[in-house]
Order: sequence, then C-alpha cells, then structure tokens
Amino acid sequence: MHSEQDTEHLTTRRYMLKMLGGALAFSLLPQMTSPADVLAANDEGKSMNIVVLTGSPHRQGTSALLADEFIAGASSKGHTIVRFDTAFEKVGFCRACYYCNEHNGECIQKDAMQKILPEILSADMLVLVTPLYYFNMTAQLKTVLDRLMPQRVALRKHPLKSAMLVTCGSNTDWNMDAIMAHYKVLQQYLPWEDQGVVLAKNVFARKDIEGTGYPPAARALGEGL
Ligand SMILES: Cc1cc2nc3c(=O)[nH]c(=O)nc-3n(C[C@H](O)[C@H](O)[C@H](O)COP(=O)(O)O)c2cc1C
Repeated sequence: MHSEQDTEHLTTRRYMLKMLGGALAFSLLPQMTSPADVLAANDEGKSMNIVVLTGSPHRQGTSALLADEFIAGASSKGHTIVRFDTAFEKVGFCRACYYCNEHNGECIQKDAMQKILPEILSADMLVLVTPLYYFNMTAQLKTVLDRLMPQRVALRKHPLKSAMLVTCGSNTDWNMDAIMAHYKVLQQYLPWEDQGVVLAKNVFARKDIEGTGYPPAARALGEGL
C-alpha cells in the first residue's frame, strides 16, 4: 500500500513533473503557443468520468469503505462517478461462444453488461475495488472483466486511467503479489495508465479497517486526480 505519506509524496512528485514539463513547453514553444494554450492542453484538473467496479458481496465491508472514500475524494474534485457493485448485478459468465466476433461486438447474453459496458467504453478512468479471494480479485469482479471481451478492440483503442483498491485478512508480505501482477498485465494489455493503488492488509472485517490509514489513503487517491 502507499501510505498516506507515500501518496502525498507521489502526488507531489507527479505535480512537480507536470510543472517541469510545463516549464519546458513554455521555453520550447514561446513563438507558437501561448501559456494559456499549453495549460489548456494539460489535462490536469479536467473533470473525468470515472467508473468504479466493486467486487465484494459485503455492502458495508472493508473494500466498500475504500470505494466510498475514493468516491468522496474524487467527487469533491468535480469528477463524475458511476459505481457498479458487481456482486449485486446480474452478470453471466462469458460463454466463450464468440458470437460477438460474428455480430459486430454484440454479446449474446442480455444482462447487466448492457449498462456496464457502455459506461466503461465512455469512461476516462476505471477503478477496481475488491477483497482478496484466494490471492486475486473476486469472481464477481473478474466475471465483469471477462465480459469486456466483445468490445476488446474498441477498449484497446481507448486508453483509460486506472486505480485499484484491495483489502485482505492476512498480513503476509506476498499476499498481494498475484493481484498486483494481474493488475500490471491488464494495464499493459488494455492499456491502462495507473494512478495508484491502496493495498489494505490485515483487515478481515469492517472494524479492522476503520481508523487505519487506508480509508484516508483511498480518499487522497480520489482527491489527487
Ligand atoms: C472466499 C474468500 C477468500 C479469501 N481469500 C483471502 C486471501 O487469499 N488472502 C487474505 O488475506 N484474505 C482472504 N480472504 C479474506 C478477505 O479478503 C477479507 O475478509 C476482506 O477484508 C473482505 O473484504 P469485504 O469486507 O470488502 O468483503 C478471503 C475471504 C473469502 C470469503
């Protein structure tokens, strides 16, 4: 997990790099571009459409708290959030029938993906929130990712920003390795541009996470966008 201090440090570093980049642009393009044009081209501060996908069957669980805090932070900065709690949506498993290949990206199954997929296709950022189940995301959340299949070509042409919030009961140091490896290859394939992760360990139930640094870290991640 990035601690609150780390998150602050990363955010500050990212901001400073953008400032340096902006200064460089000003010095290289004085004749062609006004400072106002350069600032307008910089997407910092641009209001984004953010889709949050949660994966827990606990509406008031540990990961739901991180989702709530991230959303509060991002909303406070003017971003628009659409949240789907996948454990409570009717989403069938991908049947690998490849009907979509013959039907212009249309899925043969008519279920909640008909509302979820268009939101992801038109989003600027996707946030995955999940408890750790056997070292990876829950099947409920993974099912939604599998069902991106019909629109994989369109999605790969549409880079998204991304973030991931994970909670788990154990405190072993290798606990999050598999889910982080998965997140990394998803970033590479889709492609996603990571904005940060919060990995909350040793939080089996709601009372374990309340009062820790994890909810503020999730809020800071949202606020820092
Ligand atoms: C099916 C299942 C698998 C789990 N697997 C892991 C695991 O691999 N590692 C771990 O540390 N905790 C594991 N846990 C514990 C949960 O990750 C932990 O309780 C989490 O805080 C629950 O989040 P929630 O309240 O948002 O549902 C598992 C729990 C369940 C029900």
